[in-house]
Amino acid sequence: MHGRRTAMWVWPLMIFLLLACNKKEAGLPPERTPDASGQTVVVTAEEPSSVTVSRRPITLGFSQLGSESDWRNANSESVKEAAAEAGIELLFENAEQSQEKQFEAIRSFVEKKVDVIAIAPVIETGWEPILREVKQAGIPVIMVDREMKISDQSLYVTFIGSDFYEEGRKAGKFLRDYMRDEPGPIRIAELKGTEGSSPTIERAKGFRDIIREREDFEIILSEHANFTVEGGRQVMEQFLRERGGEIRVLFAHNDDMALGAVEAIKEYGLRPGKDIIIISVDGSRRALEKLAAGEFNFVVECNPLIGPQIMQAVQEIMEGRSLPKRIVSSETVFTQATAAQELPNRRY
Ligand code: AHR
Repeated sequence: MHGRRTAMWVWPLMIFLLLACNKKEAGLPPERTPDASGQTVVVTAEEPSSVTVSRRPITLGFSQLGSESDWRNANSESVKEAAAEAGIELLFENAEQSQEKQFEAIRSFVEKKVDVIAIAPVIETGWEPILREVKQAGIPVIMVDREMKISDQSLYVTFIGSDFYEEGRKAGKFLRDYMRDEPGPIRIAELKGTEGSSPTIERAKGFRDIIREREDFEIILSEHANFTVEGGRQVMEQFLRERGGEIRVLFAHNDDMALGAVEAIKEYGLRPGKDIIIISVDGSRRALEKLAAGEFNFVVECNPLIGPQIMQAVQEIMEGRSLPKRIVSSETVFTQATAAQELPNRRY
């Protein structure tokens, strides 16, 4: 009886040791597989008697394009907070508007063998060669916030961000409705963001596609001001010097440039929100304050708080699940009447 019980106990142990020995003899590398929770499980079989299972967090390399605006800073914070909350190890690099620096960051993530790379690209073009390097290393890529123009769709898994074209259309629709009873010509100045970036290109397109409905709407001035307060102030000063008395509307591609422009308009002696109608994009706290105070007329929301969606996508990729090619942020618009209600909720 005693002998039979010993035999029952010994058999499973022997089978286990045999399997472990076989694995070592076969020269298999340590396994590195995502488990159901998305954690990477590292299994080593050094000695048959010391099989160890350790968990290490997923690592995400995030190439941020810069820190030009309130939106961008809120976006960076959202990514960092969401990674910490999800237990994802984040390698975060800020390229300060340089595509070259983004390439360097991406190559360093490849060297460090991160599990996933997310890229917020400063401009649309020039990405295919580096994305091919990443693909060769077997690392999945998530496109974040701005779009990259690439012909090979297998170079990224998904694109998470706003619909910039729709944002431009929303700005145009407000203007069309607001000016319904005002006779033309309605002369418009436009502050564009970074040259070659997808929000600049798409917002400009969407806006034009609506305002062309009225022949007496005319964009008389249009310049890049790089999404910064200082850029907005300087370019607006120049606009006012050139055609100050004619500008009826300012369409700024983001809040920061509109905030800079408001300063220039006041210094020039005009009233922002009255003499010059101001339409902007993002929905930062500072912009909503101006809107509630009557110095802006309309703000189209662009949501920077997409960190949780990014982390969810990272986890799903590691679990081997397939994702939609495009994940669009849901966004609203703010008027002078709704801005004050929203202000207590604004986190950025
Ligand atoms: O890509 C999003 C845009 O970039 C935001 O509208 C702008 O504020 C930012 O800098």
